[in-house]
Amino acid sequence: MSVHEPLHFVVLLGSLRRGSFNAAVARALPGLAPPGVAIAPLGSIGDFPIYNGDVEAQGIPAPVVAMGETIGKADGVIVVTPEYNYSIPGGLKNAIDWLSRLKPQPFLDKPVAIESASPGMLGGARAQYHLRQTFVMLEARVFNKPEVFVGQANHKIDASGALTDPPTRDIIAKQLAAFAAFVHGHQRAAAMT
Ligand code: FNR
Repeated sequence: MSVHEPLHFVVLLGSLRRGSFNAAVARALPGLAPPGVAIAPLGSIGDFPIYNGDVEAQGIPAPVVAMGETIGKADGVIVVTPEYNYSIPGGLKNAIDWLSRLKPQPFLDKPVAIESASPGMLGGARAQYHLRQTFVMLEARVFNKPEVFVGQANHKIDASGALTDPPTRDIIAKQLAAFAAFVHGHQRAAAMT
């Protein structure tokens, strides 16, 4: 692996809802990225069927293959997701399950950062810890701190869908800068092996 400049990150969004708070966070990311980092959305997880081994036996669906290829080429993935019932939303888990069936497995050794937003106080923290568990299985390189939990998100996003809360924007900018340094370190280490 070589060291890339600029870095190219892709965003995996866990909500399909029009007016999603997490989509608002995801839209804010390019504007909060440090110099030398480009951030682009992945396709919609809503384009994936529900995982079924019989469907897989007929061939992995084209939207899964396309997203896997895009993830494979990216320097890092930022997952932005709600929490459903203290865990990972089913649609996002379904997407990760499909992607995990690709060869090469796109999350293998891939730097991943996680953010979550919720109207609740904890901002989706429990979903993040379940996601980390899944990424252990996939051998992703999950970034640790600073963590981004956007609690009471309904008070931090305006009527136009813009993330306006200064402390939230500040912690996201700090996370993106630290994640970029983490990815560069990972690429340098890989280049030496
Ligand atoms: C939720 N919500 C929720 N919030 C939370 O903080 N912890 C939780 O466990 C849950 N559980 C949950 C289950 C289900 C099925 C739904 C539909 C919702 C509320 C959730 O945070 C809220 O609907 C957000 O607005 C969802 O994120 P988006 O779609 O706005 O990005």
